[in-house]
Amino acid sequence: LEEKCSLLSGSDFWHTQPVERLGIPALMVSDGPHGLRRQAENADEMGLEESVPATCFPTAAALASTWDVTLLTEIGRALAEEATAQGVGVILGPGVNLKLSPLCGRNFEYFSEDPLLAGELAAALVAGIQSEGVGASVKHFAANNQETDRMRINARIDERALREMYLSVFERIIERACPATLMCSYNQINGTYSSENHWLLTEVLRKEWGFDGLVMTDWGAVHDRVAGVAAGLDLEMPSSRGWNDRLVAEAVRSDLLDEADLDRAITRVLRLVARYHRQTPEHPLDLGAHHELARKAASRSAVLLKNEGTALPLSGLGDVVVIGEMARTPRYQGAGSSQVNPTRLDNALDALRRKHPGLPFEPGYPLPGSPAATFPNGELLRRAQEAAAGRTVLLFLGLPAADESEGYDRQHLSLPADHVDLLHTVRRVASKVIVLLSNGAAVETASWHTDVDAIMELWLPGQAGGEAVARLVTGEDSPSGRLAETIPEKLEQHPAQLNFPGEAGEVRYGEGIFVGYRGLQKLGNRPSYPFGHGLTYTTFEFTDLQAEVAEVTLDTGLDEVVLTASFTVVNTGSRRGVAVPQLYLGYLDSSVDRPPRELRGFQHLELEPGESVHVEIRVTRRDLSFWDVRTHSWCVETGRIRVEIGASAEDIKLRLETTLLAPPRLLPLTEWSTVTEWRQHPGAWEKLEPFLAAFGEETEFFLLDLPVCKLPLMFEDTLTFDQLTELLAEIRTISSVS
Ligand code: BGC
Repeated sequence: LEEKCSLLSGSDFWHTQPVERLGIPALMVSDGPHGLRRQAENADEMGLEESVPATCFPTAAALASTWDVTLLTEIGRALAEEATAQGVGVILGPGVNLKLSPLCGRNFEYFSEDPLLAGELAAALVAGIQSEGVGASVKHFAANNQETDRMRINARIDERALREMYLSVFERIIERACPATLMCSYNQINGTYSSENHWLLTEVLRKEWGFDGLVMTDWGAVHDRVAGVAAGLDLEMPSSRGWNDRLVAEAVRSDLLDEADLDRAITRVLRLVARYHRQTPEHPLDLGAHHELARKAASRSAVLLKNEGTALPLSGLGDVVVIGEMARTPRYQGAGSSQVNPTRLDNALDALRRKHPGLPFEPGYPLPGSPAATFPNGELLRRAQEAAAGRTVLLFLGLPAADESEGYDRQHLSLPADHVDLLHTVRRVASKVIVLLSNGAAVETASWHTDVDAIMELWLPGQAGGEAVARLVTGEDSPSGRLAETIPEKLEQHPAQLNFPGEAGEVRYGEGIFVGYRGLQKLGNRPSYPFGHGLTYTTFEFTDLQAEVAEVTLDTGLDEVVLTASFTVVNTGSRRGVAVPQLYLGYLDSSVDRPPRELRGFQHLELEPGESVHVEIRVTRRDLSFWDVRTHSWCVETGRIRVEIGASAEDIKLRLETTLLAPPRLLPLTEWSTVTEWRQHPGAWEKLEPFLAAFGEETEFFLLDLPVCKLPLMFEDTLTFDQLTELLAEIRTISSVS
């Protein structure tokens, strides 16, 4: 029993427990999501020491802006190759939690505010990792949407929001890519810690979704280990030095825990070890090729937000000055467990100077530890102003490392004051100002964006971001990224703002399903740059939208295609470029509140000038559904659907309306069901209708919302209590048959 229980937790920070007697090895796991953070043997446990060098790819916020599943799969493969070379069997990532608030300190590690986009991209990354025989641990399951009080916070979420938004990301990844493991989150969901949440870990995850991999804890996320084993939690990480294993053994001995639960958990651990343990760390690696892939990914991640008067691409670098310490000291990744020790590090200044030696540079503001840190601010500003006079300024601004990290949330959306001062100073004298932003999550631009000619959001672009930006501004590469998160005009317009990050140990997800653009649009709040937005150096035209809809019957499976939208995209400009047409649906006759627009598909198309392509986007029954809290299942309804093709959630290029036919939703009828609900039920309505004949069309509306048990009270002439009792008895048989 003790030997079995020992398998329930890690042997140290990064390994499972070996059993020498049986020749069971220890499996090594390692962060992280956009590059390995493998600690050398005997490194400090907290992982504060530098890890073994690995390629630092753009972080998830950047990768998500590519909307490019093929690229994500390629990166997954590269991550797995590096894992294999370092003897790592399971990569602790990707992190896929939804971006509920732009302030979450870990948003740089997460993909999107939209569950479909986050799910598709993360699934592609997982598929890439696992195609090389390395396991992925998709994290943090579930509802880990803030860092404030992350180890204890109780996320209060209604059932529909949980299903449609927070869980559906994981559900999609499991369906598409079968990850080897999930990592459960620290927090509680509706009063139960994820690490001991039977509903989450067993009923939903395994029984409904059919997940047959392993669930491990986030590092130190165990609350009650015995309850965890019973709930479906398999592996505790890291080691709790035997403490929790002993508690489990005692619980089995005293019949407080069924030994079958323990056996199930360790079987999954053994299966994972057998499948993913690496025996031969020696593995040839082409780190040069990975750096090149990181560059391509950084280039694809950049989102051109604004480009007034075609300020970009630059026609030459002759009149250009580079300003901003971040051009020389790049901010390229975030802090915390995902921090990679890069194999190389490009910076934009050197990359631009390779194209144009002697390009002038001024730091403009200090960054901690940078060469400019010793100069007084006034001096830095004065020199920047002098250098900018009459020139085109490439102005590098962003969030310093301390502003966003695992472990805490941001307090505001603003750029640092000295960056904004620099911008205004430079603007007064420069001929053009082109802002290049480095930050892991949305920053406010509304207070300064009208003052600049162009803005390119680079996110945290990884180790090759410097070279990527040099190629983008000079036109060697074309920007192709699209926003995977909204850039709000101000924090106060954001739906999450009413509740985030909660108080007294609890955060209420009061916006429900109206996360990100869904909520902004519902409230009529226009952001600075909408979800899906991104400019290119070419132009596209979208034409000929058509939609085919199949009737949904009782036999239509959730994964069957019901709606197919087709249209044509043409590159009407003079350069090769990437179009990302986005399919949004709106449900005009829905019986429940639905967002004005929901992303239901997208395509990533690279087109030569003049090239046109016919696109088809298919939507399944599941993706047309809402989560019905009365039947606890996915539901589609008959009604009109607005089909839209957008270049962003606010820039709709094509639109049509179509009708979906679906079987009526037959809710079990009771005396508390309304007249309308009885009416939807053919068998029952036949019986009730004759009693209501006295009501004319003019008065009928009054009845519709009335529970039938109120009829004898309010209109005794219509229906007596006795008649109602009889009716209910008859109906019970009809309802149970249907
Ligand atoms: C983080 C995880 C990470 C783990 C191991 C935790 O603090 O939340 O994302 O994988 O540490 O480093």
